[in-house]
Amino acid sequence: MNTPRLVTTAAELRAATTELLHKAAAADPSRVPSLALVPTMGALHEGHASLMGAARADNDVVTASVFVNPLQFDDPADLERYPRTLDADLELLGRAGVDLVFAPSEEEMYPGGAPLVRLSAGTMGTRWEGAVRPGHFDGVLTVVAKLFHLAAPPVPARFRAYFGQKDAQQVALIRRMVADLNFDVEVTGVPIVRAADGLAESSRNRFLDAGQRQAALVLSRALHLLKERAAAGQPLDLPAAVELVSAQPGVELDYFEVVDPQTLEPLPAPAGEPLAGTALALLAARVGPVRLIDNALLP
Ligand code: PAF
Repeated sequence: MNTPRLVTTAAELRAATTELLHKAAAADPSRVPSLALVPTMGALHEGHASLMGAARADNDVVTASVFVNPLQFDDPADLERYPRTLDADLELLGRAGVDLVFAPSEEEMYPGGAPLVRLSAGTMGTRWEGAVRPGHFDGVLTVVAKLFHLAAPPVPARFRAYFGQKDAQQVALIRRMVADLNFDVEVTGVPIVRAADGLAESSRNRFLDAGQRQAALVLSRALHLLKERAAAGQPLDLPAAVELVSAQPGVELDYFEVVDPQTLEPLPAPAGEPLAGTALALLAARVGPVRLIDNALLP
């Protein structure tokens, strides 16, 4: 198993990135090396391992960041409860072949306290997940912009960043930020990893008991139904999928919509007509103590 190098300051990150990119350039002087950044908040699971795997497969140097970002929590108790498991995370990152881990302190990321100037996710950040977590996406974009600056290659290299497609709204907003603010980074959304029973991997799944987990399976079943209908060129019949979830005891549906994958605006779904083009089915539900999200690209 590879042991990733752990750095905790911006200066160390820059020095280590420079050294690794110089090594990669020396190993193959015929091309510009590439650097991947995989931002995380730790509590890593198989979904993260697949992000690292995608980054490892495409790049010469892979950096993962582990930072529980206080700006994206609207509830201080949630921030307090968030699992911090750096030793186990380093083990997973080592197995995934990550070269460098940036695990800064809060003081390193936000010297002098919470930043006065932040990014705004605009109206795209106020619906869906943003509607129940005010300010969440402003906090996400602010920390991701900082991580892009801190982890960017200090020497000539291609720069790529990897995010899980499970957080579809987050990925759409980060792509938008990169386009709107001219960040020099290519963003890749890595497909959702599902357990054998279909549940999308999430660090929150650990809070479900066996019965709640069983009930939660209705979410992936409903999405699968839409995917099958879209693939067969049949009308989606979103109301029937909504009804399937709503009828499941122990599951409290928050939203279930079919939206444009880039803007996240709801798409008109005329009854009886098949889907035209691509769409994203997005849902969120409370199951026991946990709010779960899931999505599927259609068809
Ligand atoms: O998806 C996450 O884990 C976080 O929102 C991110 C992108 C690492 C920013 O803190």
